[in-house]
Amino acid sequence: MTAATTSQPKGPSRRAVLTAGLAGLATGTLGTAAIASQTDQQPTSNVGPARVAFFGAHQAGISTMTQSHGMFLAYDLGDIDRADLVRLLRLWTDDAARLTQGEAALADTEPELASNPARLTITLGLGPHALDVARVPRDERHGVGSLPSFTIDHLQERWSGGDLLLQVCGDDALSVSHAARMLSKDVRTFGSLRWRQDGFSQQGVATMAGETPRNLMGQVDGSANPTPDSQDFAETVWVEGGRMTGGTTLVLRRIQTLLSDWDRLDRHDRELVIGRRLADGAPLTGDDEGDVPDFDAVDERGLPVIPTFAHIRRAHPSVTGARIHRRSFSYERPPDEAGLLFVSFQADIDEQFVPIQRSLAELDQLNRWTRAVGSATFLIPPGCEPGGYLGDALF
Ligand code: HEM
Repeated sequence: MTAATTSQPKGPSRRAVLTAGLAGLATGTLGTAAIASQTDQQPTSNVGPARVAFFGAHQAGISTMTQSHGMFLAYDLGDIDRADLVRLLRLWTDDAARLTQGEAALADTEPELASNPARLTITLGLGPHALDVARVPRDERHGVGSLPSFTIDHLQERWSGGDLLLQVCGDDALSVSHAARMLSKDVRTFGSLRWRQDGFSQQGVATMAGETPRNLMGQVDGSANPTPDSQDFAETVWVEGGRMTGGTTLVLRRIQTLLSDWDRLDRHDRELVIGRRLADGAPLTGDDEGDVPDFDAVDERGLPVIPTFAHIRRAHPSVTGARIHRRSFSYERPPDEAGLLFVSFQADIDEQFVPIQRSLAELDQLNRWTRAVGSATFLIPPGCEPGGYLGDALF
């Protein structure tokens, strides 16, 4: 069972809380005074108590429905050995297990900030140097560290690489920020922060269950993802066999979107760039978001309805032979940078992410409005059981 499905809120369940909220709305039939006193006591929306299970076969924050905030922290390790790395992973695990369940971290300076985790998840990743320190051989790295360069790259050192990754996600920015601060304290004697990237998503709070979120370009983004907990998802994401069984890999690409240029394109042309309709995310050859795109369909002039340069054609398994699970967040960096923290999970980077990115680099009209400025890859070990620690399978 995955972390997401074993999610068991300890406080009032999310459903109970939402039902209570609806009951509050029903007081519309009561007098104004009664409504006022109800409003004082009842939260308008309360995702605070919701918890995602920490222990299990897989780490949380992968098949978990995307939360509304995502923070990515990459650390550079100092001069440490294998035993030191284990000490750090134990510290992180202990604090992450508490914080995600609404309990204060061990040396929490603001313990009250832990009590509303709001679906907080903390996911650990190991970059190439950490894998050297852990003495994980190449054939167990599943492509981590070996990303080729692509013609579309404009990579900057400040957003790339990293020895260790913490992906901290949740539906409340305060809870995410507090968790990140506590975990960053643990790392002080072992290494230092290399970069931090913050993103946001419509999913988690602002969309209905099962609704695909939109990105800053206005597109419905995530439609063709494998369904969490399906066989399809398992085959795409989880490593099968060996010590890494139940683990995966993460690729993070910081991709600027050139929104003021994009704004100049008319609606029809924007739809041709992706191959899906803006209104509902349906493929240009279909009626519903879930319809399978028909890449052979031609219009009255004999031209493909979904152009040869369309993003969904170039990224499609029929062209690339591969699938990935995307779990991206939008981001903004004032005054003028906006884009996508593109995050993908796949059992093997070389066999899955690379052929897709190659196909897109070669011919994808979307490249005219996007610019990859950061890139990093991490091995995501399987989950752990109580008493164990994240990464223990590798030691
Ligand atoms: C800013 C950059 C990007 C934007 C705005 C973007 C947007 C989209 C949109 C709107 C869709 C169609 C709906 C969906 O299935 O989600 C899509 C599909 C997809 N994208 Fe991207 N994308 C970006 C970058 C990438 C990158 C870097 C990759 C991988 C290297 C990628 C891989 C895919 C895949 C595999 C699909 C599904 C194709 C299918 O099977 O139909 N995308 N993307």
